[in-house]
Amino acid sequence: MPETSSTTETAYADGRILMHAEGGVGVITFNNPDKRNAMSLEMWDGFGAALTALRDDAAVRVVILRGAGGKAFVSGADISQFEATRHNAAASEDYAKRSAAQRALLAAYPKPTIACIQGFCLGGGLQVAMLADIRIAAHGSQFGIPAARLGIAYGYEGLRNLVSLVGPSWARLLMYTGMRIESAEALRIGLVERVIPDDLLWGETMAIAESIAQNAPLAIKAAKITIAEVLQDESRRDMDAIKAIGDACMDSEDFREGRKAFMEKRRPQFSGR
Ligand code: COA
Repeated sequence: MPETSSTTETAYADGRILMHAEGGVGVITFNNPDKRNAMSLEMWDGFGAALTALRDDAAVRVVILRGAGGKAFVSGADISQFEATRHNAAASEDYAKRSAAQRALLAAYPKPTIACIQGFCLGGGLQVAMLADIRIAAHGSQFGIPAARLGIAYGYEGLRNLVSLVGPSWARLLMYTGMRIESAEALRIGLVERVIPDDLLWGETMAIAESIAQNAPLAIKAAKITIAEVLQDESRRDMDAIKAIGDACMDSEDFREGRKAFMEKRRPQFSGR
């Protein structure tokens, strides 16, 4: 296992975003349960700060995103702030830029990320979940994008990810109706990767995170970079980056350790070098 980093919780946005790390696994908690973890602008900023701290912590190898309170992952943007911050196109510029800047950190995150979803995962909450590498959901969760019920547009980034996960027809059905779907349907259409009974969700998500944390970080980075390039338009695909990370793996201490451990019939100890 990688060196254990701090297990003490760090709070951002007056405690509405919490962050800690345990055994190579970083955890960010959306913690506004009274509002079903609706995201205020301050929470978006805090989310970005927590992502940055875990990104820069060398002991952290994988990050889990989750919601507090058992009823929601994130129920979307905090609608009570809309009158002050998003009542028209000009007013929403700052909100859009600040929240997009934090999501961009997640989109370009160099470490694997997992969204652990229990309860409502709506609007901007689904946008965050879709930016994670993997989505694990509890049975009783609900997914939706109620933008058409509010009269707002969901934006390019969110819809690109939605279409790439569920295809254009399901994206249209979800967007035109603003309907909510349950976990079983989300699983069937490819919106989440695995559905787990509510009481087992955290343990199963941690088990996946720990298995990632024990594997070779450069090999995982190679997979992450290459899959992202597969999704790029061919004209913008960076084959040199794929080659560079492939070479870095072949020349790594971890590849030597992986081979040696196999021959010696023991578990490898990877350093990320
Ligand atoms: N923004 C602000 N407040 C929200 C919120 C949001 N996105 N989602 C929930 N809340 C608040 C509710 O206003 C309510 O506050 P109150 O206790 O002061 O009345 C509290 O959270 C609990 O919500 P409630 O609706 O009573 O709980 P529920 O379990 O019956 O339903 C939701 C939960 C999430 C389905 C429902 O609150 C909802 O539809 N929220 C809006 C979702 C949305 O449109 N998101 C997209 C925003 S872009």
